[in-house]
Parts: sequence; structure tokens; C-alpha cells
Amino acid sequence: MATGDLAKAPTPLVEDGGEGTRPDGEIRLTPDAPDEPGPDPVRLAQALQRLSEIGGDGRASVSRLAFTPEEREAHRVVGAWMAEAGLTVRVDAFGNTIGERPGARADLPFLAFGSHLDSVPNGGRFDGIVGVVGALEIVRLLEEGGVTTAHPLRMVAFANEEGARFGEACLGSKAVTGMLSPRDAERLVDADGTTLAAAMAALGIDPRQIEEARWPDGSVAAFLELHIEQARLLEARGLQVGIVDAVAGNTRLRVLVHGRADHSGGTPMESRKDALAGAAEIVLGIEALANEPNRRTTVATVGRFSVSPNSITTIPGSVELAVDVRDIDSDRQRDTAWRVVELCEQVCARRGLDLEHVVVSDTSPSVLPLWLRRITKDGCVELGLTHRVMSSGAGHDAQILARRMPAAMLFVPSHNGASHVPEEWTGVDDIVSGVRALYASLLRLDRFLSEEVA
Ligand code: GLV
Ligand code: MN
Ligand code: MN
Repeated sequence: MATGDLAKAPTPLVEDGGEGTRPDGEIRLTPDAPDEPGPDPVRLAQALQRLSEIGGDGRASVSRLAFTPEEREAHRVVGAWMAEAGLTVRVDAFGNTIGERPGARADLPFLAFGSHLDSVPNGGRFDGIVGVVGALEIVRLLEEGGVTTAHPLRMVAFANEEGARFGEACLGSKAVTGMLSPRDAERLVDADGTTLAAAMAALGIDPRQIEEARWPDGSVAAFLELHIEQARLLEARGLQVGIVDAVAGNTRLRVLVHGRADHSGGTPMESRKDALAGAAEIVLGIEALANEPNRRTTVATVGRFSVSPNSITTIPGSVELAVDVRDIDSDRQRDTAWRVVELCEQVCARRGLDLEHVVVSDTSPSVLPLWLRRITKDGCVELGLTHRVMSSGAGHDAQILARRMPAAMLFVPSHNGASHVPEEWTGVDDIVSGVRALYASLLRLDRFLSEEVA
């Protein structure tokens, strides 16, 4: 296995400076120090390993949902690392962890960079985390190299990016861009009926203060995010870095189908109102819709499905479905979501079922600015890193920040494209390449923007 590689979860691995057996999915540490100045693979692997233990199952699966004690613990650990690396650290009014480093020029706004610390249920160890540990590595490299940028720097570990718990994604980045209010925190609920506001309050974060997290207009000049690709393209083409030109938008719906619970033996087929049979038809209809040839870039998923009363001897009385529609084309994204609602109405009308639906969230696709993409590309060229421009089907904090400021994203390969599952895997060597590209991009951006306002 290459120096600095991580275990390919969940295959057992053998290593240990010598050849001891380690548990499935444990991150392989290498005793080899880097032979030239640059990102330290050992340090990166250790940080990934430590974070994978918070909400981890001890193998490869991580469940660190937003506003749980595990997610807060990850913020505490990263906050402590940021402080050790010399940053001035605070947790903002939404629970994002922010560390700042002064620049040489007091008249310039911040350059920000980072990613998120929450995960989906039974997710992997790299989504979001690579961008956080990569950002931290950059701060350490600046410190070790005695480098002072012209702009002040802001490293961010965002809270609640996934949207896996409360349905809406990128809430930490929405908070800093002024797109989240205390009313949203009352509106958003998890599968147990806990509001975002209640979950925040239970962890000592006052949801009424959310708007305090907003970054004043003009205070940040640009945002950079390093992330795993979560698709197969880079690995398939043998490339080291992806430069993102656009991030898909998503519309999420909660659909409730109400029928009539009844005895499964006593109720003849023709007099049933089976909510599950209707919901099943809806699921297959959504799949067919996203497969229509004119929706080439559309994806649609029913990722959550709950049946009530969920008993083998009772006809299902109601079903709740969570629907996620994504597209790089905003018109088609909204059109597909609208067609999902029409489909639900038709199925329910034909089967005599009642329907409720709520749009839980609606986030537009973002196109990331060409001039900043060129800066990241120049960084890759300078370092001799193989790269290509590509779009992102997954959502990201950079997509939200891009509404208020120039934002750029760099991808590193995902093994087999796996993500949101324990098999998610990116080798440390690839992460090192991504950190180098991010570091070069940050320094180039700092120079470019400070020359502009010299
Ligand atoms: C975030 O990872 C998403 O669901 O796109
Ligand atoms: Mn992510
Ligand atoms: Mn994710």
C-alpha cells in the first residue's frame, strides 16, 4: 500500500510500522516523515483518524448528525487544533467553528476556506472532513513557513451541511450569508419531531441569535473549499484534482400519503385505501420521471420512507416519503419537483388517498466564477497536478457562499465514487495533492486580489 494510504473500508488491513493487524477501516498511519516542505501525510491521517472516532463505529461508518453531542465534540476537537495552529478561534451563533489569522494589510477583507464536520447516518470518514483537515494543514504550513498573507484568513468548520437530520442542507453557510432566520429553526424538524431550534437550544446554542452569525457584506473576499468528489470521474481518468465549475441545486419535499388502516384479513381488495401501495407507485413514478430522456442531468431519490402503523396484519394507513430532486439546471430542477407533486396528486386521486406535501427546502444550482477557477487551475499547473473542470452533483457550502462572494471548489478522487456510505475512501496521497492545490490557490488569490487594490 502506498505511503500514507488509508484503509479501504471495510476490508481488514495489515500494517503497523511492521505488519500488525488493525481493525477494519482504521486509517493507516505512515511513520515516514515528508521529505520536503508541504502537507504532512502523517498529520493529515492522524486528524482524519481522530475525527472518524467521533460518532464512528470503530470501523469505517460515521454517524455525526447535525446538532448532536458527537457533532459538537468534533467542533470542539477541531477548535482546539485551530487554536494550537495559532488561529483566534470562536464558535459563532449557529455553531460554526471559525479561526482567524491576521494578514499584513489591515485594509483587506478575509479570504475564507474550510468545509463541514457533520455526516449523514452511517456515512463515511471523508465527506466534509477532508476540507476541514486540509484547511487546518494549510494554516500549519503557513505558520511553519512563517508566511503572512496580505489578506487576513478565516478557516471555517461549518455546522449542519448535510441536511440529513433536518431536511435542509448547508445551514451553517446559509447562516453566515444571512439566508437563515430563527423562524427557519422553528420550521425545520427531524424524523423524531425535534425542531432545529430545540436541538440547538439543548446544546446551549440560542436559536434566536442565528442572525448574529452573518458575515457583514464585503468582509470576506472569497471562499475556497476542498472536498472529495463523491463520483467516479477523477479516479476513472487517473486525475488528481477536479476544479468545480457548477454545483447542482436541490429541491426537497416531504410527502404524506393518507389512506385507511384496516384489517389485512377482513378487508376485501376492492374496498381498501392502502397508503403504501400508493406510495410505492409514487416511488417508481419518480424514478421514471428522472429517467426521462429530456432530464439528462436530473437525479431524484426517495431516501426516507416511513409506514404507519407498520404492522404485518394492518393495511398501511399512512406513509411519509422524503424526496430529493437535484439538477445542475435550475429550471429543470423546479420543473421536476413540480412534476413530482403532480404525480403524487394523480396517484392519490386515482386510489382515493389523501395527500399532503411540503417543500422542505429549495436551493438553486450555483455557477462558480471563471476568474477564480482560473486561479485554482494555475495553481494546479504550477504544481504539475493533473486536473480537469467538472460539475458537482452533490451540494456544498461553497455553493451557498457563492451567492454572496466568489467561491471555488477543488475535488480529490473518491475511490469507486462511493460516498455517504462507510466505503467512502480517499487516499492520503490524493488528499496531499488537494491540499497542495488549495494552498497554491490561496496564495495566488491573495496576491491577485491584493495587487488589484494596491
Ligand atoms: C451533501 O452531501 C449532499 O447531500 O449533497
Ligand atoms: Mn460534503
Ligand atoms: Mn455529504
